[in-house]
Amino acid sequence: MMKHRYASLREGAELGVDDAEQRCRRKLWKRSIMSILALLALAALVTFLAASPRGDAHPGVGHEDGRLLFVGVLHRHGARTGIHHYTFENFTWPWKLGALTLEGMEMGFNMGKKLRSDYWRHLTSSSSQMHIDATSTNVPRTIDTVHSALLGLFLGDQVKTSSILERDCSCRPDRGGQASSVECIGKCLGLDSVPSELPKVKVLQSSSIEASLLQQPYVCKEYRTWLSDFDTSQQYSAAVDEFSEQIRFLKKVVNGDRLCFDDLTGKTIKNDETCTNITLEAVERVWDSAVCALFEGIDYPSPTNHTGLIDTFQPTVDWLWHHWFTVDQGPNMGGILLNDILERMHAAQVADESLWKTENRKMGKVAGFQGASMVLYSAHDSTVASLLAALGLENWSLPSFVAHITVELWASGTSNETDPRVVLQYYDGRDGHMLDVRGCPDGTCAYSSLVAALSSRRMTMANCTFVAPKEAVNSTAAEKGRR
Ligand SMILES: *[C@@H]1O[C@H](CO)[C@@H](O)[C@H](O)[C@H]1NC(C)=O
Ligand SMILES: *[C@@H]1O[C@H](CO)[C@@H](O)[C@H](O)[C@H]1NC(C)=O
Ligand SMILES: *[C@@H]1O[C@H](CO)[C@@H](O)[C@H](O)[C@H]1NC(C)=O
Ligand SMILES: *[C@@H]1O[C@H](CO)[C@@H](O)[C@H](O)[C@H]1NC(C)=O
Ligand SMILES: *[C@@H]1O[C@H](CO)[C@@H](O)[C@H](O)[C@H]1NC(C)=O
Ligand SMILES: *[C@@H]1O[C@H](CO)[C@@H](O)[C@H](O)[C@H]1NC(C)=O
Ligand SMILES: *[C@@H]1O[C@H](CO)[C@@H](O)[C@H](O)[C@H]1NC(C)=O
Repeated sequence: MMKHRYASLREGAELGVDDAEQRCRRKLWKRSIMSILALLALAALVTFLAASPRGDAHPGVGHEDGRLLFVGVLHRHGARTGIHHYTFENFTWPWKLGALTLEGMEMGFNMGKKLRSDYWRHLTSSSSQMHIDATSTNVPRTIDTVHSALLGLFLGDQVKTSSILERDCSCRPDRGGQASSVECIGKCLGLDSVPSELPKVKVLQSSSIEASLLQQPYVCKEYRTWLSDFDTSQQYSAAVDEFSEQIRFLKKVVNGDRLCFDDLTGKTIKNDETCTNITLEAVERVWDSAVCALFEGIDYPSPTNHTGLIDTFQPTVDWLWHHWFTVDQGPNMGGILLNDILERMHAAQVADESLWKTENRKMGKVAGFQGASMVLYSAHDSTVASLLAALGLENWSLPSFVAHITVELWASGTSNETDPRVVLQYYDGRDGHMLDVRGCPDGTCAYSSLVAALSSRRMTMANCTFVAPKEAVNSTAAEKGRR
């Protein structure tokens, strides 16, 4: 079993910015004493230090007295409706297919609130603007989720969300088939108003190679080629035998040998092309629909019962996902995102170093302390699985709604300013724990160790042979695992 130490780690993460600022100011005090002008600053500092309590007895994971330099958060969207509507499903979804549900928005908002309590104090500083980047795939549910998360991050507990009855989501365009404005998300969440200073979300168009940042397996040929070979592999057909009971069960659910959907291009089209043979993928798709229905409170048709159906299919889905997202293919799936995160960490470290160099220190910028930079990547369970694979991890739990990976970079403070520490965590949507990466055991190590351990797993867009993805609704193959 993996260790669950999220709670204790979280305590460690709750380091006050006061401590970091005190430290900054103590250093400043030493370095600026030569200057006559420093006398003015000194008076202010003495007042500050005298007024602030010393609080250096923090539990944690080695970043006591730490300053957060950077945090990257890759998250899956919140709860959504099914990707398809299958002919045997005797219910209709309340929103367009694949749309974020209201519960999904709330999940995003709550995740943002959690990020606020963990990181907000580190993101702000007296001297600089907050540096928060938000990037999303061009799918309405991921855009809606990151907007919900930003609202939670900026508002936190300052507002109480009203009850569901008071919410008004009539502003939502195309029943969730298109992304909503932030104002509309606010109304859906029952907020009175939304802050005006939210960061603008960068949406990666799937027709551009930039899409490879968050959807590398689907827009780069390398992995797609591997995947089509996998489908015809011995291993795959052995799995079809191994899971024959689940396949039989699905045929009972469907009451036939083929899985048919009636949602192509939004219209009801009844011809053979809308059906697929029942194999492992079909099991995975129906499992996914049933999970979505469970979150939405919709009962799913099953020969047993709703949870019985999910539990029956779970082993097949686990097998499939761990064979789609293998360590071997990790760089081809998440290498570009991994590289982006490592580069951002590097930039944060360089910025911090230059800030600490005496020659860059100018009087008049007493509060030279700079807030941590944050990046939010809003994407899919396949993106989360891709990054886990790129990190060389094998035995992860499937990413549920708003599952996220956080990567923190902490200045090591008292020990060695030039070798900050890294903290890697995974919250799968239910539970959180440290990511035990080879070369960075238990998810915490020196930044330089992490860089060395992952050097062969980084990729850039130059490593990607770009193939524009087919429109998701038209394609069955390119869509595998893209949830
Ligand atoms: C994989 O993780 C699961 C729980 O997440 C655990 O039950 C299982 O023993 C682990 N397997 C290996 C090989 O580590
Ligand atoms: C689907 O199953 C039928 C009958 O077993 C078979 O003839 C057909 O080739 C299969 N189609 C695909 C795409 O595998
Ligand atoms: C859907 O079908 C199941 C049987 O598979 C049945 O128990 C359920 O009541 C049906 N639901 C609706 C809304 O018709
Ligand atoms: C649902 O079905 C499973 C499998 O048949 C069974 O073990 C479980 O007791 C059922 N649960 C309920 C609430 O009926
Ligand atoms: C700090 O870390 C750097 C790079 O890892 C190393 O070169 C240097 O010797 C270290 N300094 C001390 C005082 O440990
Ligand atoms: C990415 O491309 C560069 C330059 O061609 C190459 O050196 C590197 O090995 C590639 N990375 C991977 C992980 O294949
Ligand atoms: C998807 O299918 C529809 C109808 O068949 C077609 O009009 C549309 O151009 C297709 N989109 C893509 C990207 O192939």
